[in-house]
Parts: sequence; C-alpha cells; structure tokens
Amino acid sequence: MEGGSGKDSYHRNSGLQAQGFSSVHAAIEQAIASSAPLFLDSSLDVIRIADLGCSHGSNTIQALDFVAREIIRLREQVGDRKPLEIQAIFSDLAINDFNTLFALVRHPQGEPYFFSGVPGSFYGRLFPRSSIHFAMTSYALHYLSKIPESITDKNSPAWNRDSMFVSRSSPPAAIEAFAQQASDDLSIFLHSRAQELVTGGILLLMFPIRLSHELNEADFPFQSLWKDLIQEVKSDLSLSLSLSLSVSLSVCLSLSLSLSLSLCSQHIC
Ligand SMILES: C[S@@+](CC[C@H](N)C(=O)[O-])C[C@H]1O[C@@H](n2cnc3c(N)ncnc32)[C@H](O)[C@@H]1O
Repeated sequence: MEGGSGKDSYHRNSGLQAQGFSSVHAAIEQAIASSAPLFLDSSLDVIRIADLGCSHGSNTIQALDFVAREIIRLREQVGDRKPLEIQAIFSDLAINDFNTLFALVRHPQGEPYFFSGVPGSFYGRLFPRSSIHFAMTSYALHYLSKIPESITDKNSPAWNRDSMFVSRSSPPAAIEAFAQQASDDLSIFLHSRAQELVTGGILLLMFPIRLSHELNEADFPFQSLWKDLIQEVKSDLSLSLSLSLSVSLSVCLSLSLSLSLSLCSQHIC
C-alpha cells in the first residue's frame, strides 16, 4: 500500500473499501445483538476490538468506531450498565504506515477509547489467548502469505510461465497451487483467531471471493490494464529496468487476483 496522505496513498484511494464496509453495517449490528450475553455481562469493563490488515487510511478508524458504538448502544438500550472502556487495536504488517494512521486518529486518547497498534502477519498469533471480543478484517484476507513455490519451478506441472498470478493460460496445477496456498493460509488464520477470541466473541471476515472455479473475463478486470501498463513501461525504459518493474507489477497482481480461487466456499461476513 502506498503510505502517507498524498494523492496516490491508500488513505486517499480507498473509498471503494469504505463503501464495502458500510454494506455490512446491518450484519455487524445483528452479530453484536446475537452476542448480547457477552457484551451485556455485568462483570465486563474492557472490550477489545481489533482490525487485522487495517492499512493506514481512515477506513479502519471508522470501522473500529462503528463496532465500538454498536456495542455501547446495545448496553445503553438495556440501561444501568457501568461505562465500558474500549481498546481499539490497529494491526497490520510491520511495513504498514502506522505513523500516518495514528496521526489520523481524531478521538482523544482516553475514556472510553484507548488505541494501540500491533505489527505482524495475521497468518499467525497476534494477541494473547482469549483476549479479543471482536476481531475483523476487510479487504485483506485475499492476500496470500507467499507465492506458491511450484508456480516458479520450470520442472513443475504448476509452472506458471512468466506470470505470477492466475490467468486463463495458467495450467490447472498452478490454479490448484494458488488454491492450496489460500486454503492453508485461511486455516492458519482461523486457528490463530480461535485462540485469541474470548468465548462468544465475534470474527468478521470480509474479502473478495469467486463463486465458481470457472475463469472468465469478469475475474480479470485489471489484467489487460496491467499488461498494457507493463508494455508501456517496457517501451519507455531500458530493458533491465523494465524487466524488474514487470516482475514487481506481476507480484502485485498475483496478490490481488490469486485472491479467492480456493476461497469460493467461504462467505463474506
Ligand atoms: C486493501 S488494504 C485493506 C485496508 C482496510 N482493511 C480497508 O478495508 O480499507 C489490505 C491490507 O492488508 C494488509 N495485509 C496483507 N497481508 C497481511 C498479513 N499477512 N497480515 C496482516 N496484514 C496483511 C496489507 O498490508 C494492507 O494494509
């Protein structure tokens, strides 16, 4: 993600993701209501809400705020509950621009909000056992932990030629390799969260998926754009520079397109 607050930054170019999160507001309200026994427990005084793959834009601030308000609202409806303290946790890879993120936080630190950042991959443990009441991730879980090794091995049936993403010319074994990686990653993600969530806690997963194994044009909305861009860069720059750029562009694309091949049985939220 491009950091900072410039015109190309994620912060300034994440309206689509913000809209996506708004579309699950009702589902979040329902989930919180159905976990009322947890949130209305009279012994509860601190709620921990974590956003995994938060990036550095304002989306994560609004998402955490929405969830916190819903929990507070539920408690207020019932009346005479003691005030809650909210620990709002931003989590992303260590390379995330946490500086920009924390500078965007407008809530005063202190009651009821206490903010913190946790660097690390969500494909592993991030928090102590039974410590999180509401964990969420939006538009991040389609990033694989790594590129499957077999797709770069010329001697493997999964060799994906010069492409680091699933395309219509990918051999079935390459597609299977991406699917297996996504499945392994998701399994690690779920096992980690299972240990971190309190009993009755909520896990909200929002990420792009494909509903079929068939590959069609609609699954590759950016592929021709990327290819044109790479071609343009290649013709403008020296050969060595253009080669390295095309590799890194391909990696980006693989991360966004390999996304959901094996995740088609997963449901949003
Ligand atoms: C498209 S942004 C989504 C940001 C935000 N959730 C939103 O909806 O606007 C994807 C984020 O996922 C993060 N990410 C990718 N792989 C990750 C991993 N293994 N662990 C934690 N974060 C990861 C990236 O660093 C990036 O900040």
